[in-house]
Amino acid sequence: MGLLPNFVVFEGGDGSGTSTQLELLKQKFAGQDGGGQKLPSIVYTFEPTEGPAGRILREALRGEARLHGETMARLFSADRAEHLYGEGGLVSLARGGNLVVCDRYTLSSLVYQGIECGDELPMELNKSFPAPELLLFFDIDPAIAFERLEKRAQKEIYERLDFQILVRERYLKLLDSCRDKGSRVAVIDAAAPVEAVARAVWQNISLLPIMKGCTVQ
Ligand code: TYD
Repeated sequence: MGLLPNFVVFEGGDGSGTSTQLELLKQKFAGQDGGGQKLPSIVYTFEPTEGPAGRILREALRGEARLHGETMARLFSADRAEHLYGEGGLVSLARGGNLVVCDRYTLSSLVYQGIECGDELPMELNKSFPAPELLLFFDIDPAIAFERLEKRAQKEIYERLDFQILVRERYLKLLDSCRDKGSRVAVIDAAAPVEAVARAVWQNISLLPIMKGCTVQ
C-alpha cells in the first residue's frame, strides 16, 4: 500500500520526548475551535500497542521475557498489522477523515530491529504497510536523551547509550527512504525547550491538507 493521507508518525530514539509531545499536542488541539473551519477529529495512538502482541513486547522490553531479535521483529509487525487493520484500525480511521497521530511506527522496526537482526527481515515484514503522510523525527544527541532516561525508575532493554548512538545513526540514514515513499519528513530539534519543540510540531501539523481552512493559534 502507498501513502496514507491524514496519518502522522512521531519517531526518535528513547528519551527524545515523543510521548511528551503527543500529550502536548492533545492539549493544544483540545483548546482550539478551528476558527471558520471545524477542526478534524484527532486520534492519538502508539506502538507497541496495548493489544495482545504489544503486551508481550512490553514484557520483553522490560526484560521480563527474553526473546530473540527476529521474534521481536515479527511481533512488532504483527502488532502493527492489527493496529492498522484490526477492529477500529488506523487505516479506516484515517480514510474516514480523522487525523491519526501515532508515536512510533515502521521506522522504529527498521532502526531498532535492524540493529538486532540486520536490515532484511524488518524490511520484508514492514514493506506492505502504508507510509505516513507526515513523519516527524525528534532528533537529539543520545547523551542528552540518556540523561533524561536516567531519571526513570524502569529501564528497558534498548535504553543503553551505545545502542542509542547506533539508533540515531540509523534514523538519520533511513529518513531519505521515507521521503522516497512519499512521506513529508521534518527533522525537529528535540534538545530544544519543550515549548519550542511543541511549536515546531504544531507548525508541521497545521500544514497538513486536512487542516486546510482551519485557523489555529
Ligand atoms: P517507547 O515509545 O519509547 O515506550 P516508552 O514510552 O514505554 O519508553 O517504545 C518502547 C520501545 O520499543 C523503544 O525502545 C523502541 C522500541 N520499538 C522497537 O524496537 N521496534 C518497534 O517497531 C517499535 C514500535 C518500538
